[in-house]
Amino acid sequence: MSITVACSDEAPSTDAPLPTTAASTDESEPTAAGALPYRDPALAIHLRVEDLLERMTLGEKIGQMTLVEKNSVAPSDIARLGLGGLLSGGGGSPRDNSPTGWATMVEEFQTAALESRLGIPLLYGVDAVHGHSNVVGAVIFPHNVGLGAADNPELMERIGRVTAAEMVATNIHWNFAPAVSVPRDIRWGRTYEGFAEDTDRVTRLATAYLRGLQGDSLSDRTSVLATPKHFVGDGGTSWGTSTTSDYRIDQGVTDIDETELRTVHLPPYAAAVDAGARSVMVSYSSWGGEKMHAQSYLLTDVLKDELGFTGFVVSDWEAIDQIDDDYGTSVVRSINAGVDMNMVPRAYHDFIDELTRAVEVGEVSIDRIDDAVRRILRVKFELGLFENPYGEPERIVDVGSDSHRLLAREAVAQSQVLLRNQRSILPLDPNIEALYVAGAAADDIGMQSGGWTISWQGGLGEVTDGMTILDGVRNAVHANTSVLFDRNGRFGDLAPGTEMVCLAVVGEFPYAEGFGDVAEPRLPDSHLALVEHMRGQCDDLIVVVLSGRPVLISDHVEDWDAVVAAWLPGSEGDGVADVLFGTEPFTGTLPYTWPRDAAQLPEPGDDALFPYGFGLTGNG
Ligand code: BGC
Ligand code: BGC
Repeated sequence: MSITVACSDEAPSTDAPLPTTAASTDESEPTAAGALPYRDPALAIHLRVEDLLERMTLGEKIGQMTLVEKNSVAPSDIARLGLGGLLSGGGGSPRDNSPTGWATMVEEFQTAALESRLGIPLLYGVDAVHGHSNVVGAVIFPHNVGLGAADNPELMERIGRVTAAEMVATNIHWNFAPAVSVPRDIRWGRTYEGFAEDTDRVTRLATAYLRGLQGDSLSDRTSVLATPKHFVGDGGTSWGTSTTSDYRIDQGVTDIDETELRTVHLPPYAAAVDAGARSVMVSYSSWGGEKMHAQSYLLTDVLKDELGFTGFVVSDWEAIDQIDDDYGTSVVRSINAGVDMNMVPRAYHDFIDELTRAVEVGEVSIDRIDDAVRRILRVKFELGLFENPYGEPERIVDVGSDSHRLLAREAVAQSQVLLRNQRSILPLDPNIEALYVAGAAADDIGMQSGGWTISWQGGLGEVTDGMTILDGVRNAVHANTSVLFDRNGRFGDLAPGTEMVCLAVVGEFPYAEGFGDVAEPRLPDSHLALVEHMRGQCDDLIVVVLSGRPVLISDHVEDWDAVVAAWLPGSEGDGVADVLFGTEPFTGTLPYTWPRDAAQLPEPGDDALFPYGFGLTGNG
């Protein structure tokens, strides 16, 4: 097949509807099947890609390279510009934030895309980073920090399968996950998005999860496209190097040599590519004096050539803008470095204009454009989107189903790390006479789910359906047990001699990205005060800590009889109760070294409070 490049904005056949048979408008390439070759599912994908590419104008090609935030798009532009993708950022929900509301919204966008001249389906992307986590009613899995503690690849694969099933039920095929970051400094607000500080743990869990999302074949109806992110070294940024708003470390500088970059941060990508990764997101961070989005050495030479990545590279949210003060320069440098699809996300006309100009004056070659578009189209064909552009909305009843929640509960139980257990007070006896529970966090789905839950930064309260830790505890105990709950730990005057077994639930308030950058990760003062108050009245005091990372507790921990690192368990709080009452064993181990004090950061070393991999079993 000879390839000619249509390098003008003139559409080969103008307003004609998409020809579906050779007999209609395009007689140049009839096939046996009677359809245009790119529409023929029997044809090899590379032939379909070349056939389609040959028919595209420059404008349509650049459209495919454009990823737009859904609230920013003028609906008529979807077909007119042939946009390659749309996304919801954190919290970018439809007005009706229900599974049906999502399915309807995405279906409408897809229908619009199919009305474009060539009828190329769009990719709709979301951050389903712990379940389909923008959707009210979806199951919310523990954040990766907890799944890192569980360290169970088989579990990860099942979580990937369930997440994909909930996504396709809402017509979505593209997940901006997994984060394969290897966070090396817990002051980073994205520590919880990473599985562990250890490269091998990250690699085995991320790979298994990717396999779960993508299934046996990307073209399966229940498969979604995974996106390992953020390439590369996002977890290695140094404190104080961020130049983004008030951030301190997020999006900063990864100040390490190439050997360390390759041994610590690159291996998860190599494994993900081998496991079939077809899109990779670039990091906001810098390395070697250059923003990652402008690094042709890393994006093209290393990722594409050396690791053999033939999928497409997507930029992060408005990230190319950080390359240069001049937007046109940023566009040229990022595309030439190897970015294939630009998450614009808002000013997409500027991007399209700048890239068009750059091609016309020769600053970006048509070969580079064709390479980018080929990569994007190939993945769309692999996903089977031309045959099945919508999802599986008939599966909508499965979103947040009991069986999905059961899997999350299992994951929660496996993610709990027992840090301290004086007198073996855990597990508790479910027949215990009374249990005194304190802390608003004990009864708060938003708190136990953290950032990236319904909204970008997360929020407190009933942000979505689920079981709070308190509900889980109530369900776990014997019918005769009284569970007394007071958020402030005020239980009044008890009969003298009453034995008090207490559970205090405390934690970090929700945050995401650089909003979570803190010099000293701590529990809120009010939570520490609550625990101190409890200590004054309780015989046995169990403290459950909800957090996205280790928090500094060495000044207090000796006073606490038992301590459980619960991380950000998500919607199924009964998984926490399962280990507290011994229905499930404690098996989680620390995915991050737990520092003694802030002076030990970023690398706590041998004198840490709890070493990497620590975790008691609860068997005495
Ligand atoms: C984050 C990405 C995310 C994207 C879309 C960015 O700010 O860094 O991880 O996928 O937004 O929400
Ligand atoms: C979006 C996030 C995105 C962030 C980047 C927010 O408005 O909801 O998805 O990561 O902006 O700054």
